[in-house]
Amino acid sequence: MNIEKTKTLLKQNGQEHLLKYYGELSEIQRTMLLEDIAHINFSITECINQREADKNLDSIAPIPANSLSEIAARSAEYKKEGLKLLKAGQVAAVILAGGQGTRLGFDKPKGMFNIGVTRRLSIFGQLMENIKSVTEQYGGYFHLYVMTSEINHADTLSFFKENNYFGYPEDKIHFYTQDKEPVCSLDGKILLSEKHRVAFSPNGNGGWYSSLVNSGLSKILEKDGVQWLNVFSVDNVLQRICDPVFIGATSLSKCSCGAKVVKKTCPEERVGVLCSIDGKPDIIEYYELPKDLAEEKDSSGELKYPYGVILNYLFNVSVLNQTIDSKLPYHLAKKKVAHIVDGKTVEPSEPNAYKFEALAVDMVRQMGSCLAFEVDRQKEFAPVKNATGVDSVETARELLALNGVKL
Ligand code: UTP
Repeated sequence: MNIEKTKTLLKQNGQEHLLKYYGELSEIQRTMLLEDIAHINFSITECINQREADKNLDSIAPIPANSLSEIAARSAEYKKEGLKLLKAGQVAAVILAGGQGTRLGFDKPKGMFNIGVTRRLSIFGQLMENIKSVTEQYGGYFHLYVMTSEINHADTLSFFKENNYFGYPEDKIHFYTQDKEPVCSLDGKILLSEKHRVAFSPNGNGGWYSSLVNSGLSKILEKDGVQWLNVFSVDNVLQRICDPVFIGATSLSKCSCGAKVVKKTCPEERVGVLCSIDGKPDIIEYYELPKDLAEEKDSSGELKYPYGVILNYLFNVSVLNQTIDSKLPYHLAKKKVAHIVDGKTVEPSEPNAYKFEALAVDMVRQMGSCLAFEVDRQKEFAPVKNATGVDSVETARELLALNGVKL
């Protein structure tokens, strides 16, 4: 786009300030800035004024789950089905590794964090070990996608290369960068990260499928007849990936997706709760769930809404393709973002900007039906979110040790 067209576009959208330093830039910098502006989805700023609709909790109901005891009773049948699908190449996996991991405070991709104590064991390395325990069961390899962000793509790629792809066949690992959205001030002005660069940030973990399609890499799924995608967060080091029992149970349930869930430790635990709203599966974030509902008990004295999601889902690819055009809502995340003011970089001490994020939890409702699949949290849920305290490096190490992982 040339400068004249860019000026018109910015004027139409009330963002003319993005060219404030244009006169000072070199030719290369001008080209970069114009390219950045051409990538802006201007309609995104409208989200700021549209208050997120509250979920209508009048029709909230618990979702029946495949409980630990039910799964144990049918595990051989589920496993057989899951291994059959894996052997037939109908399952692939996606690591969500596009996050910025701000709470952990590690300046590299979270997957590179050393969770080992007496030896080097990166989070990626541990996840690849978890994968090995499945591939060894059926003697094959599934396609593994790693979703990165523009910020951590290069580091992630070189880390896998340096580690020889952790012994996984290189032609089965695919890296793609997730899409981005501009970052705005609280009054809707798009920020500059440098005089010649627009501030962008990754568009949230809900962008994983549209970004995969936009990257062109989803063609591999079509070509190879992949029907299920196991999607999971990078930071749960006990994550079971392409777990045959989960795959088999979801496939046999005829649901469009499956969600691994754990029993909450207490009503206020900070996990999204899987439930049903208007007869459709839904996930209510802990901050959206009113106290009375969070604490409500059923007739046997158990929590009525006991199941928290752990960001491990299995999605049916045909249903994903049917729903891809119905856009996910964007959530506003208020963050501290460094940006250019009067020609200088300012590091704010208070949140000064909105990032726009789509969330994977919103995809579950779009899928129409979901199998809630209970797992033992001691064996499958060790998230590394913080450096210390709850869901931290310490707690994850304890759980890894409990599960016999040499640290
Ligand atoms: P979190 O919500 O924990 O975010 O992501 P985060 O960025 O990793 O960490 P904080 O909040 O800044 O401390 C849950 C999962 O979703 C991925 C993360 O990499 C993690 O696996 N994610 C998050 C993305 O892939 N893209 C995003 O834009 C955001």
